[in-house]
Amino acid sequence: MEALLFITAAAGVVSSPSSHEYRFVYEPMTWADAQSYCRRMNSDLATIATMEDMKTLNKMAVMNNMVYTSYSYRAWIGLYDDVDSWRWSLSDSGFYRTGEDSFRKWQSGEPNNWMSTERCGMMTGEGLWQDGPCSSARRPVCANITGPGVSFVLVQSGMNWTEAQSFCRKQYSDLASIRNESENQQVQQLVPAGTKVWTGLYRDGWKWSAGSRSSFSYWKSTEPNNSNGNEKCVLATFDALGKWEDWRCDVEKAFICSSTVVFQKVVSVKLEKTSGLDLNSAAVMEELLSQLLLKLKQGLHADVELSWRKQSDGNVFHKLKEKNPTSV
Ligand SMILES: *[C@@H]1O[C@H](CO)[C@@H](O)[C@H](O)[C@H]1NC(C)=O
Ligand SMILES: *[C@@H]1O[C@H](CO)[C@@H](O)[C@H](O)[C@H]1NC(C)=O
Ligand SMILES: *[C@@H]1O[C@H](CO)[C@@H](O)[C@H](O)[C@H]1NC(C)=O
Ligand SMILES: *[C@@H]1O[C@H](CO)[C@@H](O)[C@H](O)[C@H]1NC(C)=O
Repeated sequence: MEALLFITAAAGVVSSPSSHEYRFVYEPMTWADAQSYCRRMNSDLATIATMEDMKTLNKMAVMNNMVYTSYSYRAWIGLYDDVDSWRWSLSDSGFYRTGEDSFRKWQSGEPNNWMSTERCGMMTGEGLWQDGPCSSARRPVCANITGPGVSFVLVQSGMNWTEAQSFCRKQYSDLASIRNESENQQVQQLVPAGTKVWTGLYRDGWKWSAGSRSSFSYWKSTEPNNSNGNEKCVLATFDALGKWEDWRCDVEKAFICSSTVVFQKVVSVKLEKTSGLDLNSAAVMEELLSQLLLKLKQGLHADVELSWRKQSDGNVFHKLKEKNPTSV
């Protein structure tokens, strides 16, 4: 019996020079307007996942004369710093009642994401909060949760935020989370004057507008540096280097939209039929597909879709000539 099988796969599964299809738009817009524009066109602000993607863009920029236009050689891409994503280490634990995780006590001028390096929360001896680089060695304050009660413990050795989180989870319940002014005072009492301690507050970093988890980046050597403050959006530059810079999102620039390329393939499948099974029954075909999908997904980390192609008589499977029985 023979049938035709559709394989649809998002790029990345199939090796290809570029996993995205790009379009330059030369009408200057803010990052947010550019994002809306791309989304109205059924795409999104550009995701750049590999060095190959970057080379494709550089070639397009040269072909489009980008380097000689008045857009100062730069275009928005989909990367942005998710600076408003502050949450507690305990956020997913079911610890909070509604609204309890939204208490904040930032020092004035904080969080400032200095040099674009600050994603973890600290408390000063004055009981005020700052953001700091997660890699610094600091003493953490842990929370010991016992039923409805919580007590706070200052750990005596310094460690980075990730290590602090593991330590507190192992020895107590988690890093300290602070739900209101009275808990803030309880923690503050533990913090020696002139020092800063880790709390459980942290945030995500750079993300792609289209939601991909690609970690590829191509920053200029001094970037990202948040040098003017509030530099949450990314411009690709198309000078000789073609590298990236963080900028304030409200400047109007040219931009690049991208769509993920979807590959489709039709393959024929031959099966040897040993039982009286009706291969053209919906249940059997469904089961075959899910078995094939399982096999395909081993080793592939992507969205693959399979479907049977019906032939003109409405059937999927067709008997092969007797003289050539083959099994796959
Ligand atoms: C914290 O330290 C550990 C062990 O040295 C290291 O693997 C990890 O990357 C560090 N995390 C940060 C955020 O610096
Ligand atoms: C946590 O608090 C409870 C109640 O106060 C106490 O009995 C327990 O020893 C504390 N746990 C740790 C690890 O300090
Ligand atoms: C602070 O929050 C804790 C936990 O919800 C609650 O028990 C306590 O009464 C609150 N204190 C104040 C002053 O709101
Ligand atoms: C940030 O990077 C830009 C461009 O690379 C550079 O001109 C600027 O001096 C840097 N600012 C700081 C504070 O390092």
